[in-house]
Amino acid sequence: MTTHWKGVAFVQFVKDKHMSKLDSLLPKEILAGLSTDFIKHIHYFKAIDSTNEFAKQLAKKGAVEGSVVIAETQEKGRGRLGRAWLSPFGGVWLSLLLRPKITLKEAVTLTLMASVVTAKTFRKLYKLNAKIKWPNDILINERKVCGILTESGADNNVVSWAVVGIGINANINLEEFPSAIQKSATSLKEELKKPVSRIKLIRNLLKQFEKDYKIFLIDKNRILEVWRKFSDTLGREVKIVAANEVVVGKAMDIDNFGALIIKVNGTKKVITGDCIHLSKIKSFDK
Ligand code: BTN
Repeated sequence: MTTHWKGVAFVQFVKDKHMSKLDSLLPKEILAGLSTDFIKHIHYFKAIDSTNEFAKQLAKKGAVEGSVVIAETQEKGRGRLGRAWLSPFGGVWLSLLLRPKITLKEAVTLTLMASVVTAKTFRKLYKLNAKIKWPNDILINERKVCGILTESGADNNVVSWAVVGIGINANINLEEFPSAIQKSATSLKEELKKPVSRIKLIRNLLKQFEKDYKIFLIDKNRILEVWRKFSDTLGREVKIVAANEVVVGKAMDIDNFGALIIKVNGTKKVITGDCIHLSKIKSFDK
């Protein structure tokens, strides 16, 4: 268990004032009720640039699988496709260090697994109808409540470390987001009309993560099946904006590596990109 302290006195005072209204995420509080086997090495920060960045540094220094980096706020939170990720107080911003024996190509499915874990946790704890927008945005009522960013390193195409970063808008008021994303984002507090216990959320998330990760290592198809069940994308007309192309068509399925299979003239697979749902209605006729 590691607690890192950072920041000048005044900044600390402002943060402490804000945090006094929140449950704190101190490792001893989380560990007190956590019954995981190996996801239990917690590094805690009041403020950090990015939990993914710190976890990456830990990975390169040889830290054990199951290390977790948690911060109350991130100053340079990272999102997918090189975007910034807003991380104010009240959210859950954490990264997990894993060392699965999988190929780089398979590493994408690790991200899909994390989205299954998170959606399951929201469903079980809060009875919310959490769904997944390809590849790994968690939506509630079609608004994004959580994003996942996986970064990995490999030797000869075999993953040597993977950092799965999970950002959950937990106890966040929508006014704290820029107006441009207020319509497309939501938070658990907003959906439930009351704040959640972030400690309980993290404990349940880590427990579920460990359980599904063990299954994933034996048979990742079992996890991909649950992804399909939770998917809000399959069956819809979608537009995928990738670095070099835009693909419009019907989302039919995912393959064993998490690529989205789209019906255009024939079919096309996309590995990465921004997914926009065009149709409200889903249909599964081929
Ligand atoms: C996305 O763009 O949807 C992915 C967002 C991932 C954000 C999380 S918050 C914890 C971890 N640390 C980061 O810098 N990013 C991830």
